[in-house]
Amino acid sequence: MAEQYDVVIIGAGAAGMMAAIEAGKRGRRVLVIDHARAPGEKIRISGGGRCNFTNIHASPKRFLSANPHFCKSALARYTPQDFITLVERHGIAWHEKTLGQLFCDDSAKDIIRMLLSEMKEARAVLRLGVQVQSVDKTLSGFRVVTGDGAIDGSALVIASGGKSIPKMGATGFAYRIAEQFGLPLVETRPALVPLTLDPAQLESLSALAGVAVDAEARSGKTVFEEAVLITHRGLSGPAILQISSYWREGGGIRLGLLPRVDVAALLKAARRDNGRQALQTALGEHLPKRLAQFFAETAGLINRSLADLSDKVIDSFCAGIKDWTITPAGSEGYRTAEVTLGGVDTKALDSRTMQAREVPGLYFVGECVDVTGWLGGYNFQWAWASGFSAGQVA
Ligand code: FDA
Repeated sequence: MAEQYDVVIIGAGAAGMMAAIEAGKRGRRVLVIDHARAPGEKIRISGGGRCNFTNIHASPKRFLSANPHFCKSALARYTPQDFITLVERHGIAWHEKTLGQLFCDDSAKDIIRMLLSEMKEARAVLRLGVQVQSVDKTLSGFRVVTGDGAIDGSALVIASGGKSIPKMGATGFAYRIAEQFGLPLVETRPALVPLTLDPAQLESLSALAGVAVDAEARSGKTVFEEAVLITHRGLSGPAILQISSYWREGGGIRLGLLPRVDVAALLKAARRDNGRQALQTALGEHLPKRLAQFFAETAGLINRSLADLSDKVIDSFCAGIKDWTITPAGSEGYRTAEVTLGGVDTKALDSRTMQAREVPGLYFVGECVDVTGWLGGYNFQWAWASGFSAGQVA
């Protein structure tokens, strides 16, 4: 005999727990199963342990999808303010760090505790360490066969996330279920991920490992202004993670260092004040010293005093600082990617409910759907909003 529930949710992450809370509040008998030993593991490690749980600028424009309109309905139905209200109701202190990014003051575990307490109140049952063996359509809903027995549900919510960080149990399970039920997929790729360089590039930048600098990072028409970090493997830092979602193999990343600073004017003023100063020393007042040294060396101007440099030379030298193109060899892949781009094609889903159009009762929420946010709390907002939407109807 199979156990009977109204709603079976596979995945106790951000989206699955939110769907469980909302469906449970409507009086539905909800079971959430997860193969992990603890719920919300990605919440726990997110935001450096403080969980960047939303972003107050979470407008649809800050999400990538083959259909950029799809996310509008869910994001309007459940807003950052709704989540802030929930967080405050649980007495969790928070702060805005930068760029609208909201973090817990104390610990990401507070968010997990809050979700578990809401689930308990909504009488949703959570079962961990459960291996799903098969999922099938039945006359009245779905049967999920697990290592612990069969479970029947009239609705099935797939909230098992994407492929990022396989070490933490990411499996691509949602895509297999989508394929089983004939739903199309948008090709997946790692996103919000550090980019790697080939050995020759790494060698030429080896003296810069560990240097961080503010820059505009550009790929095609998309540009982000934040910190860039040069590492032993390649490029990282928030500007690079952001642009990685837009970058494609073979393309270059154009870095504009010292955005909104007229470096040429500063160097010319320095030449007036102290012409004997070496170029790299003057530049080192505005850029990390190792980077100033690197640019002066690369331009063949190391140890040249400012007085020796014409306006034309300074202008062309500074143009190189404002448009430094690096062509990454690849990315660090799902091993370190924060999210998965692509996933269940939104064409196959109802944007109000996340229900599969051709398979009544089957829902996909969270990261497994082809909706990917920018860095900075957007991906959790999508998880809350899509989970909430499904929870209203499942
Ligand atoms: P999520 O991956 O959270 O949950 C899926 C659940 O399904 C997991 O519990 C998993 O064990 C389970 N599961 C998978 N396969 C299964 C199977 N076959 N059977 C049973 N269970 C299965 N975002 C943000 O907005 N702010 C932030 O600060 C961060 N920080 C951050 C840091 C790091 C290191 C990473 C990797 C990611 C982030 N993110 C983030 C992204 C964010 O974590 C991500 O977008 C959400 O966790 C997605 O929520 P989901 O519920 O969709 O999937």
